[in-house]
Amino acid sequence: MRPLDLIIRNGTVATASDVFRADIGIAGGRIVEIAERIEGDAAVVDATGKYVLPGGIDSHVHVSQPSGEGIVMADDFESGTRSALYGGNTTVMPFCLQEKGKSLREALKAYHALAEGNCYTDISFHLIVNDPTEAVLGQELPALVRDGYASLKVFMTYEDLRLSDAEILKTLDVARETGATVMVHCENEDAIRFLIEKHEAAGDVAPRAHASTRPAAVEREATHRALTLAEIVDVPVVIVHVSNGQSMEEIARARSRGIEVIGETCPQYLVLTADDLSGMDWEGAKFVCSPPPRDKAAQQDCWRGIETGVFDLFSSDHCPFRYDDERGKLNPKGRRSFRHIPNGIPGVETRMPILFSEGVMKGRIDLPRFVALTATNHARTYGLYPQKGTIAIGADADLAIWDPQAKRTIRHADLHDGADYSPYEGLEITGWPTTVILGGRVMICDGELIGRKGDGAYRPAAARTTAFPAKA
Ligand code: URP
Ligand code: ZN
Ligand code: ZN
Ligand code: ZN
Repeated sequence: MRPLDLIIRNGTVATASDVFRADIGIAGGRIVEIAERIEGDAAVVDATGKYVLPGGIDSHVHVSQPSGEGIVMADDFESGTRSALYGGNTTVMPFCLQEKGKSLREALKAYHALAEGNCYTDISFHLIVNDPTEAVLGQELPALVRDGYASLKVFMTYEDLRLSDAEILKTLDVARETGATVMVHCENEDAIRFLIEKHEAAGDVAPRAHASTRPAAVEREATHRALTLAEIVDVPVVIVHVSNGQSMEEIARARSRGIEVIGETCPQYLVLTADDLSGMDWEGAKFVCSPPPRDKAAQQDCWRGIETGVFDLFSSDHCPFRYDDERGKLNPKGRRSFRHIPNGIPGVETRMPILFSEGVMKGRIDLPRFVALTATNHARTYGLYPQKGTIAIGADADLAIWDPQAKRTIRHADLHDGADYSPYEGLEITGWPTTVILGGRVMICDGELIGRKGDGAYRPAAARTTAFPAKA
């Protein structure tokens, strides 16, 4: 047997199904041994008193993506994946945006060039289909799915991104034929435009109006429509960043009709509310994202979805813009009306600590459910399992060692992304990942970065061969 490179000793190991005491032996970047006691003269990481979990997979992350109005994101692949790594992630799935009039391959070439040699975690792309021409849907997309680009996102909102129902149907049909997995952003753009015009006409232009012009009904209707389109085509679908109970009911109802649907929610819907958008002096702009955070009742509903299985995925939807410039503090246009504030908030580093602290430590979910929601189900949904997302013989040695006693207060100054604030500033957290291992390489050791950019690599994804592989 090949000698071990690294042994993780004395930890409490958790997967999506079990929690057990074991040592883990690593060779050639993979897990090769799991046993009560592993001897040998390999390097040792002592995990006494700690949890050893699969490295987090954040399957909803935006970096280096141009936003409308020429605004630049605060994170590139280097800072975004570094921040992700500090938050216990070993794989992130950023989006690759097709520009109108251009091909998907052109977009991929540009994003690969940005990512190459710059990542601290492994990455795998989702395509954003923004110009579904016959050539794109007929030839390009099927070839790309075969080449390992097996997931894509379509938008029902944003003037520059929305697809018509006809375009969504055609895209879903290609997914059915090829085994691609489709994520849908569900908000009714026409209803939002109608409400924005009303609010602007009434002089209601502050950040809070962002939430008022995107009420739950706008999301519920679009969720129902997306699920109906998927039902008509007969293809599984992922409903991303679900913010409220009404949309959850649509998912549950669709499931009862036999539709295969994966539900995703995010930290902002568990710990923020629309009141956060009311901050004085344009501070509310720090919380503008779509769908917007809602009220305490919606938070409770989303927690119920985390606990009961309406949600399979817990992602950050990390989409960072600096407050000082892009969000409008110094940007006169952004300051004129909420409609010019770029949508999206940072959170790739705080995603798992928030769910660990608020979920596991407060007794809402157990450790296997935490692992399923933050790693295993992402790998299963997007074609990276079982290489990623679990602790098993032969899997990549992507691990995060968590100190369940660590107490921290979230301060942006302690985070590692490129934004200039955290929407979770001041939130008290119990439990934090202290050591992070990527493909057998110790990247963060007791909170200190020792890995280098370029240690993370691109990982192709497999297309679905059945309906969704069984969920954890
Ligand atoms: O406001 C958000 N969520 N921005 C990121 C883009 C998206 O829709 O996921
Ligand atoms: Zn979205
Ligand atoms: Zn997003
Ligand atoms: Zn930051």
